[in-house]
Amino acid sequence: MTSNPFYLDCDTGIDDALALAYLLASPQADLRGIGAVSGNVSAAVGARNTLDLLELAGHAHIPVALGAHDPLAGSFGGGAPWVHGSNGIGEVELAESSVSLAPETAAEMLVRLAHEHPGTLRVLAIGPLTNIAEALRLEPSLPQLVAEITIMGGAALAPGNLTPVAEANIANDPEAAALVLSAGWNVTLVPLDVTMTNVLEENHRQELLASSGAVPRALGEMLGYYFRFYEGIFGRACSAMHDPLAAALAVGAVSAAVAPVVHVGVDTTSGPSRGQTVCDLRGLYMDYPEQPGARCRVVLSLDGDFAPHLVETLLAFSSESPTAAITAGAAVA
Ligand code: RIB
Ligand code: CA
Repeated sequence: MTSNPFYLDCDTGIDDALALAYLLASPQADLRGIGAVSGNVSAAVGARNTLDLLELAGHAHIPVALGAHDPLAGSFGGGAPWVHGSNGIGEVELAESSVSLAPETAAEMLVRLAHEHPGTLRVLAIGPLTNIAEALRLEPSLPQLVAEITIMGGAALAPGNLTPVAEANIANDPEAAALVLSAGWNVTLVPLDVTMTNVLEENHRQELLASSGAVPRALGEMLGYYFRFYEGIFGRACSAMHDPLAAALAVGAVSAAVAPVVHVGVDTTSGPSRGQTVCDLRGLYMDYPEQPGARCRVVLSLDGDFAPHLVETLLAFSSESPTAAITAGAAVA
């Protein structure tokens, strides 16, 4: 099986933690570096969570770089503690890694990795796109160096989650998203249309909690917090799977059923639709005829059921030492 070099950009975050663990457990992905950006939590807290998760997973050698604290325009809004907890990982406390941050910014790391792996580096962006936009400014030929970029973000036909029409990753930095989506590379956009319709249920969470591995157990604990937020949306204990689904599509372990390649714009005005992804889906009634110049593949539905695959992959960590430390699981009732 081919293993491709990956750069992950994230705002760790409960579902980011799931995506990170999924990538680490996936033979198709060779994770070479991770950048943190403000989103669910500040970039600094996201970086701390990432280092601690890597330590828990036995992958402390993967470098983590601090990225942008503020979006391109304006300033960081304080994150989403009501979704991810005050520490971003559902109030679960992980043993602190002693590894330091990389001596480069996240944007610099991405540019360096793109030069080290020209034509083969895959980028997975599961937070606001500030670091990716900064990397494009540092290296305008980044789209030619990178094989492909997969972005969890946007809402094509589905409602938004931060505003009635805007999804959080795009809404938290619309200027960066506009820049990244118009940069002339092949983008796979994984919007709420598909991440809200493929959910993780309580029986899946129980499977993770029953694992002998520290990583699946920690994820199961974090999901307790996440499920409580999503109970207010779905009416039962379950959760969306935004970031791990984007990771699975990026590594090619799951495939899309409907994913037209269309023009996508981002609303950067200050009106009520700021942060909306405007996807040209007018081809819906003719099986999406080709749109000349379009480079954004918008995933609208999946082939098959994602949750069992995600759980099975995460349980691959169960061979680890069960003594690796989760020191508290305070958020789980
Ligand atoms: O809208 C969902 C996205 O916003 C996910 O990436 C979640 O982690 C947050 O960053
Ligand atoms: Ca995220």
